[in-house]
This record gives sequence, C-alpha cells and structure tokens, in this order.
Amino acid sequence: MRFEGKVLLVTGGASGLGAAVGRRFAADGGRVAVVDLDEQRARAVAGELDGAIAMGVDVSAEDAVGRCVAAVAEHFGSIDCLFNAAGHAEFGPIEEWSFERWQRMMTVHVGGTFLFCREVLPVMRKRPGGAIVNVASVAAVKAQSGNAPYGAAKGAILAFSRQLARDVAPEIRVNTVAPGRTRTGMTEPLMIKRAGSVEQGMTVFGQGNLQKRVAEPEEIAAPVCFLLSAEASFITGTLLAVDGGETA
Ligand SMILES: NC(=O)c1ccc[n+]([C@@H]2O[C@H](COP(=O)([O-])OP(=O)(O)OC[C@H]3O[C@@H](n4cnc5c(N)ncnc54)[C@H](O)[C@@H]3O)[C@@H](O)[C@H]2O)c1
Repeated sequence: MRFEGKVLLVTGGASGLGAAVGRRFAADGGRVAVVDLDEQRARAVAGELDGAIAMGVDVSAEDAVGRCVAAVAEHFGSIDCLFNAAGHAEFGPIEEWSFERWQRMMTVHVGGTFLFCREVLPVMRKRPGGAIVNVASVAAVKAQSGNAPYGAAKGAILAFSRQLARDVAPEIRVNTVAPGRTRTGMTEPLMIKRAGSVEQGMTVFGQGNLQKRVAEPEEIAAPVCFLLSAEASFITGTLLAVDGGETA
C-alpha cells in the first residue's frame, strides 16, 4: 500500500502504459485521475479503480489542461504524482511529413508534457514527496528508420525533464522512462500492418532487444511506479531505459 493517501494524475490513462500505471497505482492504495482524449475509455478504466475519476482532455489544449488540473486538485485535495503518457506514433520518410503533422507530434508529446508539468507543479508543492515521470522512448537516444519526428519529440521530453528536475529540486523529483517496444493500443495496429497479426508482430518487433520479445504494459508500469514512489527518493533527473536491453 505504498501509495495510500497519494493521488496520481495520468495522461493517456485510457490505454496501454497509462492505464497499466493507473491500475498499479490504485492497486497499491492510491487514487487516480485518468485523463485522456478518449473520455469513454478513460471512464471505463477509472470505473475499474477504487475512487478514481476520468476526464476527457486533449493534452495539447492549454486552457483545457489548466481546467483539468484545477478540477483534479479540487476533487482530491492534492496531486502527488504525475505520469505523462499521452501520445501517438507516426512513421515514414521525412519528405512525406507536412509541417502541420510535425507540429502535432511536438505539440502533443512535448507541449502536453510541458503543460501538465507547469499546471501541476504549484499543486504538488503543497505537500512533500511530489514525483513526475515523463515518457520518452528508445527513439530519444537511438536512431530508428523513419522515426525522426517521433524521436525528436521524445528527445525533447528527455531534455525538458532533466532541466525541470534541476529547477524543481529538492521538493519534487522528475524522471524519464524510455520504454522499448511494448504491446499497447499504439503498437498492436503497427504489428498487424507490419507482420499480419499481433502474434507475428510480437516476434518481429521483439528481435531488436536482448530479451527477444516485446514487453507487456505491466513491465513498464512497475518501474514507473517505483520512480513515483518513496522507494526512489534519491532518484531524480535520470533516464531509466526499460527496453529489454535494446540500448545496451
Ligand atoms: N508502446 C510502446 O512500444 C511505446 C514505446 C516507447 C514509448 N511509448 C510511449 O508511451 C506513451 C503511451 O503509449 P502507449 O503505447 O500506451 O499507447 P496507447 O495508444 O495504448 O495509449 C496512448 C493514449 O494516449 C491518448 N492520447 C493520444 N493523444 C492524446 C492527446 N492529444 N490528449 C490526450 N490523450 C491523448 C490515447 O487516446 C491513448 O489512450 C506514448 O507517449 C508513447 O509514445 C510507447
């Protein structure tokens, strides 16, 4: 029950990594605000968790983010932990990328992370033990074919998180995780497109790491919750690769 009395706001909480972290946080005694563009699925996830609430928000909409954080703080009385996981994946040759598409990639991933951090900080400062975890990717530190805009967005999240860790220390800890390929709502369609089925895709997508497999969302949620918890009280400003050794 390491999160008893603690409140987590998770973006992208309706699916994949965000949902897995929400479930684990609640299982360990915490209360969760499940925030996602897809309000219906956010409600479904929140419905599984004791005392959780759901909100439909586009993380790149500045006013909506401000209203969301205020409503969550009002409902729970505090926000102790923030996990920024909202995002989308798009690949392809750079010549095929419009500037609008590039900007959407940046605005959702980097902009959404920035906005939620900015809005949550004053609330988090009211109680000791605040912790933020932002999601980068292996693509932040390693070149991958056809993945430059996504890699750029994830690299920016990594750099932003490091800088922020310095600015908000010692009261609040900020860390980044770089997941390797994980089976989620984001990757399952890619697996089907590339390999014909999720099962085949799990094999193909897993070849790039030392464990020769794709992760399950719970395998990312465990280290994220560790970083959010008091067990990681001396860890801030770092990048934790949870990638089956892909970047080893
Ligand atoms: N799955 C992987 O292999 C993998 C690897 C590295 C990093 N990541 C990152 O992990 C994070 C979570 O991805 P996932 O794999 O769980 O995918 P997912 O598609 O299962 O979940 C992402 C969630 O984010 C929500 N979302 C997307 N855009 C949004 C917006 N503008 N506002 C609010 N919500 C929005 C979606 O509705 C969805 O519920 C993403 O940032 C992704 O880039 C995933």
